Amino acid sequence: MRKPVIAANWKMNKKVDDAQAFLDQFIPLVWNEKEIDIVIAPPFTVLHTVANLLKITSVSLAAQNMYFEEKGAFTGEISPAMLTDIGCTHVILGHSERRAIFGESDELINRKIGAARNFGLEVIFCIGETLAEREAGKTFDVLKKQIQAGLKEIPHNGIIVAYEPVWAIGTGKTATTAEAQEAHEFVRARLADLYGKAADETRILYGGSVTPESIDTLMACPDVDGALVGGASLKADSFARIVKYNK
Ligand code: PGA
Repeated sequence: MRKPVIAANWKMNKKVDDAQAFLDQFIPLVWNEKEIDIVIAPPFTVLHTVANLLKITSVSLAAQNMYFEEKGAFTGEISPAMLTDIGCTHVILGHSERRAIFGESDELINRKIGAARNFGLEVIFCIGETLAEREAGKTFDVLKKQIQAGLKEIPHNGIIVAYEPVWAIGTGKTATTAEAQEAHEFVRARLADLYGKAADETRILYGGSVTPESIDTLMACPDVDGALVGGASLKADSFARIVKYNK
């Protein structure tokens, strides 16, 4: 049985007061949700505040990015050791915004994943095709390459994959359940190429305009094990409803 994961990616949103107000409202709403792993990924500047507020809860803390070195002359970067020190248990790596806006390559992402695992951080590893790639019939080639390069020489433990079609992120366009299931099934088969039977245990999340309205049908897909939620995770009531899908 794969335990579902519902993760919030706040991206570059929320200052200290906003994060505090969100959690004051959110925590009581999900206090009893023990069957689901809930993860929140705030921006770096509020990690400390959120870490303190999550201490007595079962909600996990994630960073949205990190560098692969442990310390040193890397101005502006944050290391995996710094993340575990502050209470992070997870890190999002390979997000399409990092790939597209900040030019992160599969090779860089692979090094980051290796470093994160060396420090015991669970990785939410994002993959997904652009609209042009989908329209050119290249979706599966892109996913296969991202998986093979990103997870090269990475053991299966502590890896959560997030399939996020780029054309669905922040656009209000969610993949249909058929599109999501087809992609997730393909991703699991490629994970099986790398990991054999252990691929059955790997959680594969869907991301891209997930809302309280779309979560129930997405979660009904056999290979969808959770969601990575951007816009709809910024409001406590909407994110709590997504956590409590089907209720
Ligand atoms: P969205 O973002 O839910 O706003 O589409 C998802 C993500 O980028 O992780």
